[in-house]
Amino acid sequence: MRPKEVVKGIYNVGVIDWNIRDFHGYSTEKGTTYNAYLVMDEKIVLIDTVKAPFTKKLLENISKIVDPKQIDFLISNHAEADHSGGLPEVMKEIGIDKPVYCSKLGEKNLRRHFGEGLNYQPVENKSEMTTGKRKLLFLETRMLHWPDSMFTYDVTDKLLFSSDAFGQHYASQEMFDDPADTSLMDHAKKYYANILLLYSDKVRKLIEAVRGMGIPIDTICPDHGVIWKNNPSRIIDAYTTWSERRPLKKAVVIYDTMWNSTVQMADKIVAGIADEGVDVRPLHLRSFHRSDIMTEVMDAKAVVVGSPTLNNTIYPTVADFLTYMKGLRPANKIGTSFGSYGWSGEAVKIINSALEEMGIDLVDPGVKVQYVPDKDNLDECYALGKKIGQAVNASFE
Ligand code: FEO
Repeated sequence: MRPKEVVKGIYNVGVIDWNIRDFHGYSTEKGTTYNAYLVMDEKIVLIDTVKAPFTKKLLENISKIVDPKQIDFLISNHAEADHSGGLPEVMKEIGIDKPVYCSKLGEKNLRRHFGEGLNYQPVENKSEMTTGKRKLLFLETRMLHWPDSMFTYDVTDKLLFSSDAFGQHYASQEMFDDPADTSLMDHAKKYYANILLLYSDKVRKLIEAVRGMGIPIDTICPDHGVIWKNNPSRIIDAYTTWSERRPLKKAVVIYDTMWNSTVQMADKIVAGIADEGVDVRPLHLRSFHRSDIMTEVMDAKAVVVGSPTLNNTIYPTVADFLTYMKGLRPANKIGTSFGSYGWSGEAVKIINSALEEMGIDLVDPGVKVQYVPDKDNLDECYALGKKIGQAVNASFE
């Protein structure tokens, strides 16, 4: 199939990875894409490459538009391997001495990945380059989400090559956003929650800065998922909202269970929260992937975590999730913990201290129950749920 045109003279020559299901710990149930863009002008430019195993396919796609040897230079917006893995092979094909334009930190990071054999050409932030009829503007976006990340803006077509920003891990034959497709925003939200949440302050400042520069954006070309052409403001508005990290009147109860005691506690806590009129999601760690749970955490006000005590500590699945959540730095949250135990009962204390380390305000020391909860224990869990629900409601008064 011939690569599709994004706008006249710009083609998406990237590849679809239908089969990937784990993207460094993020569940990609719909696969993903590694987008790369061919700009056909007086100078022919390739923007980004693809994950190394897909390089042959990328070169095939380019060949359907132009002989790769005619490409004049490459722009690397980001050094991570899903966009730069194909770089050495592509450069061998198009000409090893041709320039690879990148940010200053991109040069450093590409050298760390690929050594000295390529003609790295660092560009200044906000510098411009013409390719003939088009003018390109380079915008550094440090830590969105790597130090080397940058955007390339096509001034002529009002088109933003946004690297990882505004992406989705979503494989589809459709190249453009369908405004009626609600699942698209679910994928975009999951992507934000698991990749960009910790950089929310930088996202907010970047959007403000781009708005301040008065740059009109008709099309956003991310390196993953569909291109925002029909309604680019939909994703910009969503990023503006998500970067504020303002929670909803919502709670999540995240837990694992060993002999069905902690799950009974979870059920009662969920019932108590729900009876206070708060939207609550029970999330069993062996039924929901950590990256889907993180998406639910992103806009929840209360994060309640339950674990049995196993060998004087928390369950491995709970430890996994707490480590993952800590790295993504959720903000503006309250929480507490619960769990059953046999003889030592450290889990509640360990979870509380992990939540506090993340800056989550504890609304209660939590509930722990020996072996199997009786009616009084379950009443205590229900009361804990009510207390959490009331605290969520109080934060919205
Ligand atoms: Fe899609 Fe940061 O790589």
